[in-house]
Amino acid sequence: MNLTESTAPDFNTESFFHYFEEESKGMIQLEREKVFVAQTVDSTNTRLKALLQESGTLVDADGTMTEQGSRLHKTILASASQSSGYGRLSRSFYSPDQNGIYFSFIYIPQAPLFNPAFYTVSCAVAVSLAVEELTGIKPKIKWVNDVYVENRKVCGILSEGFCPPGADRVQAMVIGIGINLRTDTLALPEEIKDKAGGILDSTSKKECHRARLLAKTMFKCLSFLDEGCDCWKNVVGEYKKRSYLDGKIVSVTPIVGENTNAYQAKVIGINDEAELEVECEDGSIKKLSTGEVTLHEN
Ligand code: BTN
Repeated sequence: MNLTESTAPDFNTESFFHYFEEESKGMIQLEREKVFVAQTVDSTNTRLKALLQESGTLVDADGTMTEQGSRLHKTILASASQSSGYGRLSRSFYSPDQNGIYFSFIYIPQAPLFNPAFYTVSCAVAVSLAVEELTGIKPKIKWVNDVYVENRKVCGILSEGFCPPGADRVQAMVIGIGINLRTDTLALPEEIKDKAGGILDSTSKKECHRARLLAKTMFKCLSFLDEGCDCWKNVVGEYKKRSYLDGKIVSVTPIVGENTNAYQAKVIGINDEAELEVECEDGSIKKLSTGEVTLHEN
């Protein structure tokens, strides 16, 4: 991939494997040549999409993974910083050195997708559980893909589908996750100064080894995705319990359909399909599967 490997003591490929094996106990095998922990990169999602772009068909007509598919499935690229990290709606994702971990992986689904939110929801739960096990801090999840600690966003998740040239459906996912570990909120760019934060307070004495957080999170993500619909009930149960928006007044901006006018609503909660249920000002109930939801000021 033509990148410089990270040599940070707490964030390198060797220590990732050490912690991954400790976590996985042989349940999930990762191939050494498919995992790379870089010092810096433009964007881990961009790099993995470029790898996919160079390959041909990943899944045959009968659903079997091709040789190229097997070569790319569960490829992981992590980085200590990103110069052009991005998130949903092509917004830039602040990814400075020292403060966090930024990583993406390729996942080639073996079964048809039963719920479009499956990847994002599973990964948000995986991050939350990993953070809680390592730090004792209990993150919340702001529907649909943000992880929050102390009312600040500490992690964003972006799932992108990839359809090889000539194929008629999405054959691979690139899932990117950025976690801010320790953030000096005063040093944040103006536009996220009041919203973003780190898992640990910048003055906290608590330690969190970055490769260990990466390994634990990756293990949980891959376990959920490999299990597929069998784990959905548990995953969505955990997702509901951690819902940050329940009972709050929000502004909803639809991102699909003809009417993209924002409206105000009160969040009822998350349902079994991971949809956000809101009560509009006229008393009607809406179930959202996509959309931008922001907390209403005051
Ligand atoms: C969002 O908050 O809208 C999603 C942010 C996703 C950021 C991660 S960091 C690793 C990967 N590389 C990127 O460029 N984006 C994702």
